[in-house]
Amino acid sequence: MAIERSAAKRPNWSSGFAFIMATLGSAVGLGNIWRFPYIMGQNGGAVFLLMYIVLSVFICSIPLLCELLLGKQMRRGVIRSYEKINRKFSAFGWLCFITSIFIPCFYFVVGGWTVNYIFIYLLGTIPVDQINTATFETFAAQPIAPLIMGIIFLVLCAAFPFRGVNKGIEQANNIIMPMFIIMLLFLAITGLFLPNSIEGLKFMFAPDFTKFNFTTVLTALGQALFTMSVGMGCLVTYGSYLKKDSDIIQSSGLLILGNTIIAVLAGVMIFPAVFSFNLEPSAGAGLVFITLPKVFAALPFGQFFGLIFFVLLFFAALTSGISLLEVSIAAILEKFKISRKIATVIMSSIILVFMVPTTWSFGLLNGYKLLGKTFFEIMDFTASNVLLPLNTIILCVVVGWILKPKMELLTKNEKFYSVFMFLLKFIVPPVLVLLMLFGLDVL
Ligand code: PFF
Repeated sequence: MAIERSAAKRPNWSSGFAFIMATLGSAVGLGNIWRFPYIMGQNGGAVFLLMYIVLSVFICSIPLLCELLLGKQMRRGVIRSYEKINRKFSAFGWLCFITSIFIPCFYFVVGGWTVNYIFIYLLGTIPVDQINTATFETFAAQPIAPLIMGIIFLVLCAAFPFRGVNKGIEQANNIIMPMFIIMLLFLAITGLFLPNSIEGLKFMFAPDFTKFNFTTVLTALGQALFTMSVGMGCLVTYGSYLKKDSDIIQSSGLLILGNTIIAVLAGVMIFPAVFSFNLEPSAGAGLVFITLPKVFAALPFGQFFGLIFFVLLFFAALTSGISLLEVSIAAILEKFKISRKIATVIMSSIILVFMVPTTWSFGLLNGYKLLGKTFFEIMDFTASNVLLPLNTIILCVVVGWILKPKMELLTKNEKFYSVFMFLLKFIVPPVLVLLMLFGLDVL
């Protein structure tokens, strides 16, 4: 395993396809299928979708390219990449490292819930028509069962980085992502045949501009950053396994397009069903775990559809979970010159410790709140509203103003490079600062 500690012998993606599948696997996750539909439901449907697409293409694409460039130029994980620019920037890398611990602490808990629902639908432990709000709430409030499910999810995620970049991460994504896309298409098409599905489509695609406001814009931008995996060095890490001559503009374009299409398909899978059964589209975080089981209960072959849906959700969470872990694993293995296997065990153990209080936020520790938030909510809020935007601002400033990445790593087109650098230096950082201050209710 000594091989990975030097840049010269750093693993490389074996093909462009492998890289696209890995980055798409990271991007497409609970953010697209669990978070996107309910946030869209709460923010006016089509207007939100429009804002989300515009911001993904014109704003988020810049830090996304920036992360890939940093990784491609430095060929190191996030801590060493910053240190290679300047030793004094080490703290910025560590901040990304901390973020990569915070996110799994709540993300893996939700991943554990998906494992639980797979068991329920697979084994039929609860009759399909009796899976309801109480099923979810009783399960999440228990001390042991959700923890065990979370641990199963963590171990499954860790198994792939443990095996290495090519044998583990690459193979997992190459196999899981195509399966995921087929299942998603199947469920989205099925959704279209439900009675009244047209209402769901109208909600998604016919914008009502009276719903447009500043909060929608900011929420859409935050969602775009989260779902594109920008802001904690994930794409720095995946970019560091790229060959020098790989075309990151084309890959980023495919990534943004693929991620957006999948988010839209997730909406097409969910909203026609929600409208068909007269359920509430803005039901919040429970939309997927509470509302959809009601749909499955009313459908013929509900157990089968429920199972496919939760396996799909699990696959999405798994490939993102792998990328979340890889950030900290790659960072410490080269920083402390330890083997990949040891790094994986250390990081999984640290995350496990923090997962205990986030899991118990729905039961044992429900009464313990800081500023009105449970431990789960604190981790989610701090990571999504503080750390991700902060890391992204730092990234843009450091790469734009100090590193000034080599043009040939990005493009041969001078004009494109100048526009990219202009947006990177002058436009994206102030927009992100605004996002962060509004998100924190400072403005
Ligand atoms: N993009 C993932 C999702 O949408 O679920 C979450 C995520 C993965 C965020 C990796 C950040 C990250 F670095």
